[in-house]
Amino acid sequence: MFEQVKLDYATNGLEPYIDQTTIETHHGKHHATYTKNFNDLVEKAGLTGKSAEEILGSLDSVSDATLRQGLKNQGGGYYNHNLYFEMFSPNPAKAPTGKFLAAINEKFGSLDACKDEISALAAAQFGSGWAWLSTDKSGKLYVSKTLNQDNPISEGTGQIPLIALDVWEHAYYLKYKNLRPDYIKAFWEILDWKKVEARYESLI
Ligand SMILES: [Fe+2]
Repeated sequence: MFEQVKLDYATNGLEPYIDQTTIETHHGKHHATYTKNFNDLVEKAGLTGKSAEEILGSLDSVSDATLRQGLKNQGGGYYNHNLYFEMFSPNPAKAPTGKFLAAINEKFGSLDACKDEISALAAAQFGSGWAWLSTDKSGKLYVSKTLNQDNPISEGTGQIPLIALDVWEHAYYLKYKNLRPDYIKAFWEILDWKKVEARYESLI
């Protein structure tokens, strides 16, 4: 049974960057629904006991096309939002350190350049989707964007997401309306690089 990540901050704890109503709706309604639907589909597909990464990384093995697409959509919705919500903090570390910072500097030149590349992809995503910072097993970093609830795992890239930047309108529309770039700027104010760094170190 897959469970939503529990928020380790109050629903108003990310104000003024993400408002309380958006967090309550996004986590309490949207993410809750993805999670319930994913659990239902996993049972239907006989995949109980597998991890979300295993399921999303082997969708080709599901022969029924409707079930396969459902697992991709709902499983992505479950997995992507877990990563999204767990990387925020009301008092975030504003930069990583150590090996992770070295990998960022090597790939992008600087942390600001890394954020700019992800922000540009997020702003350019037409319609609903996500922008990503990911790693492979060797620790090499990648940026990308995906449509809908697709992610680097369901895309079969061999990459594992570290940062998930949700640019579905439900993530920002109540506060930012059409101003997606303002939401993207706000995202970096509450992203906790210490949490991202811990995930990076656990994966490589
Ligand atoms: Fe979302």
